[in-house]
Amino acid sequence: MRCVGNARYKSEMDRYERGPYKLVESHSELLPKEGIVLEAAAGLSPLGEFLMWRGLTVFALDISLLALVHAKQRLEKRGLDLACAVMDLVDRWLPTAFFSAIFNFYFLSRPLLERYHVALKPGGFMFCEILLWNEGEVPNKQHYLLPGGLEDKFGAWKIYFKNETWKRGRDFAVQPRKILQLIAQKP
Ligand SMILES: C[S@@+](CC[C@H](N)C(=O)[O-])C[C@H]1O[C@@H](n2cnc3c(N)ncnc32)[C@H](O)[C@@H]1O
Repeated sequence: MRCVGNARYKSEMDRYERGPYKLVESHSELLPKEGIVLEAAAGLSPLGEFLMWRGLTVFALDISLLALVHAKQRLEKRGLDLACAVMDLVDRWLPTAFFSAIFNFYFLSRPLLERYHVALKPGGFMFCEILLWNEGEVPNKQHYLLPGGLEDKFGAWKIYFKNETWKRGRDFAVQPRKILQLIAQKP
């Protein structure tokens, strides 16, 4: 099997281990009480763990087999059965009105953002935290959200939380990066 996307996890697994995102923890009242949720580009899925402890079924998808095997084994030791699959998510079909919530953290695929519209159940919540393009500081625009790039896509949705801020990476040597945080509910 050809395994892509493992490089970041091969050498520095520990660096990517951490707790769930504050954005989700501090808005946990908006989480569904039950159902299936999607964690896109889940990596080691600490967020998935948090969601599973809350009784949700998590589908964790990522291009890195290594990351998902690690996540699966770690959670198994804690008695949690993470449903996961290796998948290139750049332009992926998703089932219609299937997920009760979708979590997209630090991954950007514009076609996929469009598909979340279809894949979420009516009333379902979308939680996002995505790097924002910052003129002059980052070389490749395509990996970053442009100003207004998310609002365009979720304009008709009820916005519960929207915040542009600067966030430091896990490595304190890394400069803070500009991000957009969004919580929106599908009509
Ligand atoms: C910055 S990490 C974020 C991981 C996780 N969402 C988090 O916030 O901890 C980006 C993740 O996207 C995954 N990824 C990159 N390209 C991908 C693709 N085309 N399809 C699916 N996952 C991808 C990487 O393997 C990695 O786990």
